[in-house]
Amino acid sequence: GDVAVLVPAAGAGVRLGPGAPKALRLLGGEPLLVHAVRRIAAAPSVHTIVVAAPAAEVDAVRELLAPVAPVVVVPGGAERQASVAAALAVVPPGPQIVLVHDAARALTPPELVESVAAAVRAGDDAVIPVLPVVDTVKEVGADEVVLGTVDRSALRAVQTPQGFRRAVLTAAHAAAGDPLTDDAGLVEKQGVPVRCVPGSEYALKVTRPFDLALAEHLLATGH
Ligand code: C5P
Repeated sequence: GDVAVLVPAAGAGVRLGPGAPKALRLLGGEPLLVHAVRRIAAAPSVHTIVVAAPAAEVDAVRELLAPVAPVVVVPGGAERQASVAAALAVVPPGPQIVLVHDAARALTPPELVESVAAAVRAGDDAVIPVLPVVDTVKEVGADEVVLGTVDRSALRAVQTPQGFRRAVLTAAHAAAGDPLTDDAGLVEKQGVPVRCVPGSEYALKVTRPFDLALAEHLLATGH
């Protein structure tokens, strides 16, 4: 394998309601993080997996994942970007493709991990899986009054895993300023072209209670 996968899993999951850190919430009786790591480990290109866990849960996460796959676990940071940087810092020499994948996208198929990695291997410096935007999208002012309608055909909803040539991601994190919600955003700021490839509906991010209910259904029907 020539791929390292970084898994930021240190978020609190406030939007999911009160409870454990999001990556440790249960889906079909197992934490979201276990589902995510199992599917990452099933992708043949994956050489190394590094998980950024909530600081108080590092030992617990190590024990939790030991039977699932060989992983390195580090404490995450206050922002997603800091969690990714902490994981990136411990990737061993070797893998020249680095993917960043949210633990919350627990049902992401191994095939998506492979297709993103393959696009980087084929020559793109930065690759993101995307879906078309199905809803009409409006820009709205602070007073909740519509300012305008955005051209939906030019929009994409962005998922993870996002894939990068290792040196490109390392340089983007070294230059990073204010925290962004994804890694491709950092790379864009460096002027590096970011390629879109088809995403997967199964890579939905479990964020709100509705998503958890949908994920439970998908898991129960074999995904
Ligand atoms: O909050 P959001 O849904 O954007 O989180 C996306 C992913 O980033 C989740 O897997 C979450 O655990 C992770 N995260 C993190 N460190 C933080 C905040 C979020 O690893 N400080």
